[in-house]
Amino acid sequence: MKAIIPVAGIGTRLQPLTNKTPKVLINVAGKPMLFHLIDELIKSGKIGTIILIIGYLGEQIRDAIAKTYGNSNVKFEYAEQKETLGLGHAVYHAKKFVKDEPVLIVLGDTIFEFDLNSVLANEYSAIGVKDVEDTSRFGIVENENGFVKRMIEKPAPGTTNSKAAIAGVYFVKEGQRLFKSVEYLMANDIKTKNEFQLTDALMKLVMDGEKMIVFEIENWFDCGKPETLLSTNSYLLNRDYKAEQQYEFTGTSVYPPVFIGEGVDIKNAHIGPNVTIADGSKVKNSCVTNSIILENAVAENAELDYVVLGAGEHITGIQTNIVKADNIISSF
Ligand code: UTP
Repeated sequence: MKAIIPVAGIGTRLQPLTNKTPKVLINVAGKPMLFHLIDELIKSGKIGTIILIIGYLGEQIRDAIAKTYGNSNVKFEYAEQKETLGLGHAVYHAKKFVKDEPVLIVLGDTIFEFDLNSVLANEYSAIGVKDVEDTSRFGIVENENGFVKRMIEKPAPGTTNSKAAIAGVYFVKEGQRLFKSVEYLMANDIKTKNEFQLTDALMKLVMDGEKMIVFEIENWFDCGKPETLLSTNSYLLNRDYKAEQQYEFTGTSVYPPVFIGEGVDIKNAHIGPNVTIADGSKVKNSCVTNSIILENAVAENAELDYVVLGAGEHITGIQTNIVKADNIISSF
């Protein structure tokens, strides 16, 4: 089966981190967020081809995938979305790779926990949802006997009783029908919030008679903002913690869970909990908690809590709730 992953977005909410690094390549709990997703797809044993919709800094994504998955049995295809005109528009770029066959669509900047094999075995198209309290920030699905009845983008308060938010996992039985639905939106310039939305294309399918079931996503971790990037990092480190994983560095106490990459140099430090330090970084005379330090960065005489330090950056002093990248410090 084929999976489509749109990763063409600019990632404005993670700037300045995304000025030079594509959002989906940012290391969360030891590997790029996109690789958490790809590894799950490969583990299912059911996905033979992964189609990436690339755009902004797309070459970096291609290179990273070739390096990591060059020897895997899964085939990678790439399509370029030159303008980020929305998720429906992004997915449409996979058209040339898909025959009249089922496709799985998953967002590249989200980490999911759900039973993938049972979704892929569905008799009908399917959309993943998770209940949320504040429905006004999400696409919301109303169902009738488990089948999608209506989807509403960011509903005004009191306009729906449903709390089922669209989580970013879609299974479409006949991929080509979905592309036709997007073509209809484009031909008639039907946009919501100025974008060709996947939600609108799916709603058109339902209105045209497609049966689409709603399934529960157990857990759903967004990596799109600094605070969610750090909470996802912390969740994954705790989930995957193995007591036998020990780290030893001169004059240093390590409080798990942490991930420390290859070639990392640490001296006289307090590390953890909930810390990722990517390959080639240096930490000297510092205390680091609840943070991500990306590749080849340096923390010296620093006290970092809820900090994302971009690749190759240098930081000192007491810092909290900041992102530093491209030599710019941004608070959150
Ligand atoms: P987001 O809505 O989070 O957009 O897209 P973004 O650009 O990544 O981040 P912000 O909003 O500017 O901070 C969700 C996923 O869909 C992809 C993105 O790359 C991301 O993986 N996407 C979105 C596309 O590929 N093309 C689009 O036109 C829109």
